Amino acid sequence: MRKSRILVVDDEEIMRSSLSDWLKDDGYDVLAVEDGFEAIERVKREEWDLAVVDLKMPKIDGLEVLRKLREMRPKLPVIIITAYATIDSAVMAIKEGATDYIVKPFNPEEISRVIAKLVEHQRLIRENIQLRKELTKKFRFQDLVGKSPKMVRVIEMIKTVAPTNSTVLIRGESGTGKELVARAIHELGPRKDFSFIAAACGAIPESLLEAELFGYEKGAFTGAFAQHKGRIEMADRGTLFLDEIGDISLKTQVDLLRFLQEREFRRIGGETSVKVDIRIIAATNKNLGEMITRGEFREDLYYRLNVITIQVPSLRERREDIPLLANYFLEKFCLSTGKTVYGFSDQVMKVLVDYDWPGNIRQLENAVEHAVVVATESEIQLHHLPQSVVSREANTFETKPYQSLTDVERNHIEHTLKKHRWNIKKTANFLGINRVTLYNKIKKYKIQKDKEIQ
Ligand SMILES: Nc1ncnc2c1ncn2[C@@H]1O[C@H](COP(=O)(O)OP(=O)(O)OP(=O)(O)O)[C@@H](O)[C@H]1O
Ligand SMILES: [Mg+2]
Repeated sequence: MRKSRILVVDDEEIMRSSLSDWLKDDGYDVLAVEDGFEAIERVKREEWDLAVVDLKMPKIDGLEVLRKLREMRPKLPVIIITAYATIDSAVMAIKEGATDYIVKPFNPEEISRVIAKLVEHQRLIRENIQLRKELTKKFRFQDLVGKSPKMVRVIEMIKTVAPTNSTVLIRGESGTGKELVARAIHELGPRKDFSFIAAACGAIPESLLEAELFGYEKGAFTGAFAQHKGRIEMADRGTLFLDEIGDISLKTQVDLLRFLQEREFRRIGGETSVKVDIRIIAATNKNLGEMITRGEFREDLYYRLNVITIQVPSLRERREDIPLLANYFLEKFCLSTGKTVYGFSDQVMKVLVDYDWPGNIRQLENAVEHAVVVATESEIQLHHLPQSVVSREANTFETKPYQSLTDVERNHIEHTLKKHRWNIKKTANFLGINRVTLYNKIKKYKIQKDKEIQ
């Protein structure tokens, strides 16, 4: 891994050399420049992970340098240093987008701590984003993301049926990706240069659906002022996707069956038959078998449609795809919102993987979008998720006995100590307090090391 590159801008020689020495000791690649203009040039031309900028400089003011850097590289963290420890200048710098500020005179340890935290953060962001891109590229087929055996089987089926002309029935719960599967079949088949036309059979009332599918002639009914082509005709040479096929009326079922048998039809009010060459893909989230028993779906139509079935699994049948999908959507919404969120907290990922997702992938997609929109931190936390998804988790919190603020602090410190195996420096760094404060708190709360070994 390459060293992190830090640019130091300070007009005082002694500050430049001492900061450089400290930071080089910490293992960074450091360049110290005297002049703000040179710093701006450097940032324009080179990649940096962090800039440390003195506020009071003769040629160009630190605040001005900060503004320029923010303009060019909005994601580059900038730490401001100032000997003029007025709250005003620090507040000003933070308002202008400085990540943090340090007041002179400072000790090397403080500098080390602040910078280590930021650099580590930057590194995590870079690594996570890279990982996310690689993963989703690797486990992506057309627009379908997934690596579970069930999903791999679906993808194999798509590859098998795409080159043929067979009618395909896609089954699966709402939001499982049936339409994506249909589009993938079309895209990979010989009809890909012609239209993919979707007809949402469930969303349209019976009388309108007939007109929508078969079209009509001028004067076929009141309001039919001109000839209108239906979806079937529009799909000629391409693919017709009959979505929610389980929702169509028995009357339309008869008409559709006739069309499927003859591959020709008449527009409503028309005399002549129209012949088309289309591939049919249908989808449903209903149990057509049961509907046949109840007399709600024609068995003959069912056999016409059900030449090849692809069953798209629900999300809870393939939980191993949840982290992958969650990261895929995170990437998608980071791009569309311009936010940099590098991942999900462990707790959030656990909730996502455990949740049952009645709305399947569509619901997961919406949950991640919600989280990215409301997230203010760089990692998605539990409170960023929609309430419906966390409610089970929230309930378990509610049953916990009441915790005071000091209890929370004590537990947090104890937990952090354990996590860092009682390494005081690391724990203090993580908590953002100095070692003395940490020792005092350990004493105050009587936190004991041997407790963890039990
Ligand atoms: N495997 C997947 N990878 C990535 N995105 C997916 C996947 N499956 C579904 N999606 C996304 O989830 C959403 C729902 O998918 P789609 O509309 O295909 O589901 P559906 O099964 O047709 O649902 P419905 O029955 O409600 O119509 C879409 O935004 C789609 O892009
Ligand atoms: Mg759909």
